[in-house]
Amino acid sequence: MSEKLVIQSHRGPYTVVFDDTLLSDNARLFEGTPHFLIDANVARLYASDFHAILDYPNTIVIEATEENKSIEKTIPVIERLVLNKVRRDHTLVAIGGGIIQDITCFIASTLLRGLSWRFVPTTLLAQADSCIGSKSSINLGATKNILGTFNPPQNIFIHTGFLETLEQKDVQSGIGEIIKVHAIDGVKAFDRLAADFDRLFDDRAVLLKYIRSALLIKKRFIEEDEFDRGIRNIFNYGHSFGHAIESATNYAVPHGIAVAIGMDMANYIAAERGLLPEEHYHRMHTTLRKNYGEYATTSIPVDVMLSALMKDKKNTSTMLGLIFPVGADAEIQRVQVPPDEIFRSQCAQFLAEITV
Ligand SMILES: NC(=O)c1ccc[n+]([C@@H]2O[C@H](COP(=O)([O-])OP(=O)(O)OC[C@H]3O[C@@H](n4cnc5c(N)ncnc54)[C@H](O)[C@@H]3O)[C@@H](O)[C@H]2O)c1
Repeated sequence: MSEKLVIQSHRGPYTVVFDDTLLSDNARLFEGTPHFLIDANVARLYASDFHAILDYPNTIVIEATEENKSIEKTIPVIERLVLNKVRRDHTLVAIGGGIIQDITCFIASTLLRGLSWRFVPTTLLAQADSCIGSKSSINLGATKNILGTFNPPQNIFIHTGFLETLEQKDVQSGIGEIIKVHAIDGVKAFDRLAADFDRLFDDRAVLLKYIRSALLIKKRFIEEDEFDRGIRNIFNYGHSFGHAIESATNYAVPHGIAVAIGMDMANYIAAERGLLPEEHYHRMHTTLRKNYGEYATTSIPVDVMLSALMKDKKNTSTMLGLIFPVGADAEIQRVQVPPDEIFRSQCAQFLAEITV
């Protein structure tokens, strides 16, 4: 057991513990009366480490797919929990990435008017970003993340050993969110990360350093604006475009990679609209492009993407609410943009350029 980070929330403080003994000793996950919701791939890959959890009657194994993160597919999970006689003093324990987190957090917010929950994030994206911040987001059919709640877990246990078994695309996806958090922190933080970019993939100590710094940067914003009414909005940098890209490709592009393409697109359009010096677009483009790599050639139909973008939570009835870097310091800000022909052609131009 090593260091601990404390996050303040409307429910009081909760802790992130960097815990490298979790696989050899997971008794602490059984505290209280737990109900485990575990990712099917994690259950398979860590079957011997987690045999006590997998043999336990109140364990539900879930395939981590966007389809399973829908309200429709959440209902059978709730039915299983009810069948397993879940009570208000029981605790849900999520073991997996952002998808298992979102399902568990959403159920914990609503079932029996609220249950406590704990989280063992097993993906880079979940360890470096989504595990803190209280949010759950659930899909309604094909509409991504339209239902949600704010409900922090009681504790988060980060064991970076889980990252060893991630597929390359899921490492890139987590790095997409790490880039976003550092770009929000400012040009210097982004440049430091960009200089270390290649080492993120082959030096675990460097990656751990950036997991910690991403959590510390995010902590500042979520403690000031947990309910996303003001400053926290800028954490949606890359996300309006990213979610639209995920929808338009039927989730062929993993979340954090879509966010990396989305940041590049936001920078490109901000520069085209004269909001941002063009050299800033180029400064970030090299790193972003490396991170989304082979996904640059994924076909992203512009009109399907735009119609998904029109459904974004941050829009008003007439304007798109987008997050752009603005000005000489590339400060990340919310900007209202009309969904007109000029905007459409800027999106089309960007998508055509990256496939070259
Ligand atoms: N609630 C939030 O604050 C928040 C923030 C960002 C993203 N999200 C959501 O998170 C989701 C993306 O999460 P994610 O990137 O963690 O992906 P994920 O949960 O979809 O997992 C990605 C893949 O990795 C597998 N996996 C998980 N742990 C593994 C391990 N240790 N070894 C091998 N494979 C493993 C999963 O089975 C899955 O196939 C999206 O739905 C996104 O909307 C939520």
